[in-house]
Order: sequence, then C-alpha cells, then structure tokens
Amino acid sequence: MHFFGSILPFTAFATAACMARFPKPHIQPWVPPGPDDSRGPCPMINTLANHGYLPHHGRNITASLIEHAFTSFLNVEAGFADPARDFAKAFGRDIFDLVDLNTPGIIQHITSLTRDDYTPEHPHLIANPLRIESLLADSDTPFLTVDSIAKTRLRLLQESKPRVLPDNEVTFTLFEAAMTLTMMSDSSPNADSNPPPSAYQGPKDRIRTWFEEERFPTEFGWRPSKRTIRLADMSPAIDAIVKSMAKQDHSGIAMKFHT
Ligand code: HEM
Ligand SMILES: *[C@@H]1O[C@H](CO)[C@@H](O)[C@H](O)[C@H]1NC(C)=O
Repeated sequence: MHFFGSILPFTAFATAACMARFPKPHIQPWVPPGPDDSRGPCPMINTLANHGYLPHHGRNITASLIEHAFTSFLNVEAGFADPARDFAKAFGRDIFDLVDLNTPGIIQHITSLTRDDYTPEHPHLIANPLRIESLLADSDTPFLTVDSIAKTRLRLLQESKPRVLPDNEVTFTLFEAAMTLTMMSDSSPNADSNPPPSAYQGPKDRIRTWFEEERFPTEFGWRPSKRTIRLADMSPAIDAIVKSMAKQDHSGIAMKFHT
C-alpha cells in the first residue's frame, strides 16, 4: 500500500514534466525483427511492424490492418492502403505474411531504390547498403531532390539491363520515388497549393535511417505529418520526376515515360 502510494504520484509528475519539455507524440519503440518475424520489401510497412503499429511478427496481415496503421499513426489517407487490397486480390488470399509482398509481378519489381533485382535463387528481400549509398550519392546536398531521384531512377534502369522494367510497373517506381521524397520531410507539400519541384526535399539523414534500419528517425526530428497526406499530394512530385527524367535521359532508356 505504502509503496504504491509513494511511487504513483512520482511517476505521474515525472511523465508530466517530460511531456512539457518534449511535447511530441509518443512513438512506440523500435524492435528489430527476430528470425521468426516476417518482413517484406516495403520499407514503410516493415518500419510500422518494427515499431509495433503492425503485428511485430508480420504474419496474418490484412489490408485493413495496414490501412489502420496508415490512418491512425502515419496520418496518410486510407487510399494509401489500396495497393494492399489489390495485392490480396492478385495473391488470392485476404490474409498474408509480409514476405509474400516480395512475390514478383504483383507490386514487387526490378530497379528498386534499395533492393537488388529479384531472382528465384536470390530474392533480395533485404536492402543492399551499397544501393542506399548510391541513392544518397546521387544528390550532392543534404537532401534527395526531384532531380537526384530522377537521376537515380535512370541509373537503376541502366544497371538492370538487359532486364527491362515492364510498362505496368513504371507507375509503382514513380510513386515510390515520390513517397521517398515526402514521407521523411517535416511536411508534405499540399498539391492544392501548386508546389514547385523544389518543394519536394527528403532529408538524407532521415531517409538513410528509414531505409537502412527500417526505423522512424525521431533523433533527426521525424514525426508523423501533422496534416493528413493525400494520394493527390504525390502527383506534382511524380510529374516533376518524370519531367526531370526526360531532361536527364541522354541514352533514351526512359523514352516511353515521357509522353
Ligand atoms: C504510406 C504508404 C507507403 C509508403 C510510404 C511506402 C514506401 C515505399 C517505398 C519508398 C518503396 C521503394 C523501396 C525501394 O525501391 O527499394 C516501397 C516499395 C514497396 N512497397 Fe511500399 N509504401 C507504402 C505503402 C505500401 C502498400 C500499401 C503496399 C502493399 C501492401 C506496399 C508494398 C510495397 C512493395 C511490395 C514494395 C517493393 C517494390 C519493389 O520491388 O521495390 N507499400 N514502398
Ligand atoms: C496465423 O494464422 C494461422 C492460421 O489461422 C495460425 O495457425 C497461426 O498461428 C497464425 N500466426 C500468428 C503469428 O498469429
């Protein structure tokens, strides 16, 4: 009795003092995956599982679980989880493990920013640190930009030769490039305000932590967006990346995107 009587007011006081000095939303601790935990090729979904916003074991996952993590924690609109519903339909099961997302030809594709190209012998589920270094090195500022990620996309298309990224998978790569620029920023530009290409800047230190450790880089100031990020907010970034690719595409490898 005495014990609880004395400890409770103290912890309540300590918590209140802490909240006043660091007024930030509580972010659940990062726990790396263990050998029996399932992870896939999506750095955001893996990160949510590593922080416990999706089941940490990564098994028996549904589109609704992903949608809930997106809307309740990440503060992106529900539509960002649509690919999970499309995946479940194409995969033929409503309940899947995160590793299933590495099935080629549904969402997973070649020319990834962080993962080497899939082959049946080498599925390359885990990010290649050298690939992340090259992505970061494509910009000579502390930020990834529209131009740097367009340069990266062109470089990766070249590096995958003779394999060719199928037309129907091009959109995924552009969308993922746009999300790489926006999701680690302090605020995602609002498409309604006609943001210029320069509004899209992803801090390298945060992107490195996100991609290398699949962890939310709170030590570099990352927080979930205050404004709900909409699918439409990705469009100006995608348009700008396509334009920049056209400008930088001296070998014509991405000709077909330019229309
Ligand atoms: C806010 C929502 C999301 C964000 C920020 C996000 C972020 C990303 C990024 C940046 C990549 C590129 C990684 C790379 O190229 O190496 C990626 C890849 C991927 N994402 Fe997500 N993602 C989101 C939602 C989803 C959803 C809903 C699914 C489906 C369940 C999904 C499945 C995948 C898959 C399968 C890949 C691998 C593509 C590849 O082969 O490179 N993602 N994601
Ligand atoms: C996933 O679902 C299967 C089938 O219902 C069950 O046997 C298994 O224990 C579940 N795994 C986890 C980690 O919940």
